[in-house]
Amino acid sequence: MPEANTMTLFTRVSSGLALAVSVSFAAHAAPLNADQAQVARGEYLAHAGDCIACHTAHNGKPFAGGLPIQTPLGKIYSTNITPDTKTGIGTWSYEDFAALMRHGETKSGYAVYPAMPYPSYSRVNDTDMHALYAFFQHGVAPVDQVNRKNDIPWPLSMRWPLKIWRAAFAPAPAPYTDTARDSASITRGAYLVEGLGHCGSCHTPRGVGLQEKALTGNDSSIYLAGGGAIDGWIAPSLRNEHGGGLADWSEAEIVEFLRSGRTPRTASFGAMNDVIVDSTQYMTDQDLASIAKYLKSMPARRTQAKPYVYDSAISRVLYAGEVPPTPGAQIYLDRCAGCHKSNGNGNGKAFPALAGNAVLQTSNPTSAIHIVLSGGAMPATRTAPSRMTMAPYADVLNDQQVADVVSFVQTSWGNTGGKATAADVAKIRKTAQPVSAEGFSMAEPELHHAAPEDQASGGK
Ligand code: HEC
Ligand code: HEC
Ligand code: HEC
Repeated sequence: MPEANTMTLFTRVSSGLALAVSVSFAAHAAPLNADQAQVARGEYLAHAGDCIACHTAHNGKPFAGGLPIQTPLGKIYSTNITPDTKTGIGTWSYEDFAALMRHGETKSGYAVYPAMPYPSYSRVNDTDMHALYAFFQHGVAPVDQVNRKNDIPWPLSMRWPLKIWRAAFAPAPAPYTDTARDSASITRGAYLVEGLGHCGSCHTPRGVGLQEKALTGNDSSIYLAGGGAIDGWIAPSLRNEHGGGLADWSEAEIVEFLRSGRTPRTASFGAMNDVIVDSTQYMTDQDLASIAKYLKSMPARRTQAKPYVYDSAISRVLYAGEVPPTPGAQIYLDRCAGCHKSNGNGNGKAFPALAGNAVLQTSNPTSAIHIVLSGGAMPATRTAPSRMTMAPYADVLNDQQVADVVSFVQTSWGNTGGKATAADVAKIRKTAQPVSAEGFSMAEPELHHAAPEDQASGGK
């Protein structure tokens, strides 16, 4: 498949279910004194940095580590960052903590694997770093749990090459002082996205040393231009561009997506579910709006890509009950149109639109193949708790049929995505696991054709 980059990088070995661990430091009734306010602020920042996602094992205690993380070198385990004095970071001074967050250097003097996104965290300012430290010392329950050894074979397990990596690829850390932005809100958005949010660790392509090819929007236009596959899901471009970026998204839609995991246009899946559930849903509307403003301020890298324009030709044929000769059309009508509709517009926030969906505008069909094989479940968030699901089709459709229906949705209603081949599907099938959703589940509804009026509103 074109643009294929299915290398697996620093992926959390997860069951596909988003972590939903609540932090011990909860709501406060009485007004906070200065120390408590700093700890509360640190908790907020720990959400923004999504520390819990990597530092909590499945069914494990919050921040006690032990989550396996797959790297191309082997499996490594996240560490205990609770304030336990024997097994956690309870004896770390503020300086020890800041050195780890900015330089990737532990209290005992070795360099950590860059699976810990310290090149991004190095941008956190001193005030916020102090608040984070206060939270991890005073807001988290200590857990006595010894760190696990990494499963990386010698000699790659030697830590000294990581210092060379760091010298080559990690920036000279400096407090974030960027003022050359158009507005305070964009500056705040840049601080969150490039810093604690470490959005680039998935959304920016990586180079030969597995380093992110750019760490900030000022570095180069490859920043957030779309990354490789993570667990077989593609993290698309977050730049203000057509052909798979955020050009068609309003700032309000970006905020809604990061807060709830769904908009009428799209629904979150794959690794982004964890990001929304553990991190962005906790951010204030103001911070989410700043993130949206910053993303929308990033000029297009793919300047050739054309704006999406809804094409109703296929909808009219399908609506008339005819089956166009396009391979995959019959499968779409039988298996998919009940939810996603013959006009491709889906159904509100219950079933995402496929017409104009940014995921279906790039040459790489990996995500679409994967979701058809594995199915999907929207993340459950505070503002949108229902986990609307799509059943897996791995046992129902063969490789050619999946390729046909994926090619159909990638190229119908004006979509400009690339076609899939049976060989692409066979490759992804090897590792695709059905996505399960506890609780809410939805049976395949009766086939329902959209009213013609709906068709006119296509491709919003
Ligand atoms: C994408 C996964 C990931 C995220 C997100 C992450 N970490 Fe880590 N962190 C790791 C891994 C993996 C290690 C261990 C690396 C190693 O052993 O080389 C680590 C190591 C650390 C250590 C060193 C602990 C020790 O005992 O040596 C600290 C402290 C730490 N992280 C703090 C944080 C904080 C604070 C956040 C949130 C702001 C955070 N991490 C977010 C993956 C992550
Ligand atoms: C662990 C990897 C990972 C991290 C970190 C991450 N994302 Fe994502 N993101 C993904 C994947 C995979 C997708 C594709 C699935 C989807 O569209 O829901 C995605 C999709 C998105 C989308 C929808 C794009 C579209 O075209 O449908 C937005 C917006 C987004 N991410 C914003 C962010 C922001 C902002 C951050 C940082 C706060 C971030 N992401 C951090 C993996 C990640
Ligand atoms: C029972 C209703 C239902 C049926 C039938 C269904 N889907 Fe879905 N589809 C969903 C839901 C719900 C999501 C969102 C899942 C998520 O967020 O993980 C989704 C997501 C998707 C996405 C990703 C878009 C996005 O923004 O999340 C694609 C592509 C897709 N479906 C294609 C198909 C195809 C092709 C078929 C038929 C083979 C199909 N779907 C059948 C409900 C359905």
